Amino acid sequence: MSVEQLNILNFRNLANSKLKFHPKLNLIVGENGSGKSSILEAIFYLAHGKSFRTTKAEHIVTHNKKQFVVNIHSSSKVSLGISKDFISKILEIKVNGQRINKLSELAKNIAVQIVTPESFKLFFGGPKERRRFIDLGLFHVKHDFSNKWSKFGKLHKQRNACLRHKVTSAELSYWTDEFCIYSQILATDRADYIDKLQDELVKWLSILLPKLSDKIKIHYTRGWSANRKLVDVCLENNEREKIVGYSISGAHKFDVKFTLNKQPLDLVISRGQQKLFLLALTFAQAKLIEQVKQVKPILLIDDVGAELDIGSRTSLAKAIAALECQVVATAINEIDLDPLIQQSTVDNKDNYKMFHVKHGEISIE
Ligand SMILES: Nc1ncnc2c1ncn2[C@@H]1O[C@H](COP(=O)(O)OP(=O)(O)OP(=O)(O)O)[C@@H](O)[C@H]1O
Ligand SMILES: [Mg+2]
Repeated sequence: MSVEQLNILNFRNLANSKLKFHPKLNLIVGENGSGKSSILEAIFYLAHGKSFRTTKAEHIVTHNKKQFVVNIHSSSKVSLGISKDFISKILEIKVNGQRINKLSELAKNIAVQIVTPESFKLFFGGPKERRRFIDLGLFHVKHDFSNKWSKFGKLHKQRNACLRHKVTSAELSYWTDEFCIYSQILATDRADYIDKLQDELVKWLSILLPKLSDKIKIHYTRGWSANRKLVDVCLENNEREKIVGYSISGAHKFDVKFTLNKQPLDLVISRGQQKLFLLALTFAQAKLIEQVKQVKPILLIDDVGAELDIGSRTSLAKAIAALECQVVATAINEIDLDPLIQQSTVDNKDNYKMFHVKHGEISIE
């Protein structure tokens, strides 16, 4: 599916905006502080139930307003909505007008990924963002992963509670066994997915970073020592775990590292190359999600001009054209979007839509 219409109410400086999107390419231009990132943030919020730039919803609602609302109508005639009321404190989620309780229901209908100028710092700043990224892919690509993931989450919590409350060794051993079984289930799914991601990544790197495409490798660590059983590792960690009160090893500790000629990638490539790498990785994941055909991924790219020279923007335009997904990209200067416009209008001049934002007001070119 793609987004046909986006409605935004009281979201940052966007008072009441209605955008009719192009199914393929949407370009948003505006000065600093005009509201470009806020439009992307609204789409992201709808898909994830949270923002990519704050953990506090109070920062998002327009100053002096009590509620924000975002909803979309999709090409497949599905409507999705999210609203947060700051008096009742209720976060309301709706699918086709019906209230639902679980955020994960939204994710069954929409898969939104974003690349911003800050993404690389976040992605390489610590494992949290890498874990979130990989599990988002798994959620859409691997059948039943979300159920296995929530089951593991419950077992992880239960085992940590046992460690904190110093329960009998029989009880701890029961939860440890279950925790290990589900850790292994997630580890197998993730290893399999990362193999697929590596293959797909090479294809997108060959467009975006052709000189490095066969030199960049993904290394997956599952959350406990290779060649060892997690049960044995837990046994060994047991005394320490009782002191700290949490599980030291397990599937929650998985990570992915990226290397270029065996060196950590983040230490050896330039800022522009970092952005191109993250775009390639995001495109690879979007392609894997798209192939499953459950949902069509939507790709948000904030500030296309930042860090990318004309050659890189031309490569990005080629990658966008090769990806069969809806893209929403922002730029401060219209000229930064020229390669994207040229590429998308090769066969048809109506192959994109341009929006201009000024002080939170959106107009169409
Ligand atoms: N809760 C809020 N209520 C009202 N306005 C807000 C709120 N939070 C942020 N703003 C304002 O919204 C405006 C739009 O911010 P946004 O980050 O979307 O701009 P932008 O177009 O992406 O700018 P840049 O090119 O600098 O990235 C800013 O001027 C900001 O001060
Ligand atoms: Mg911005």
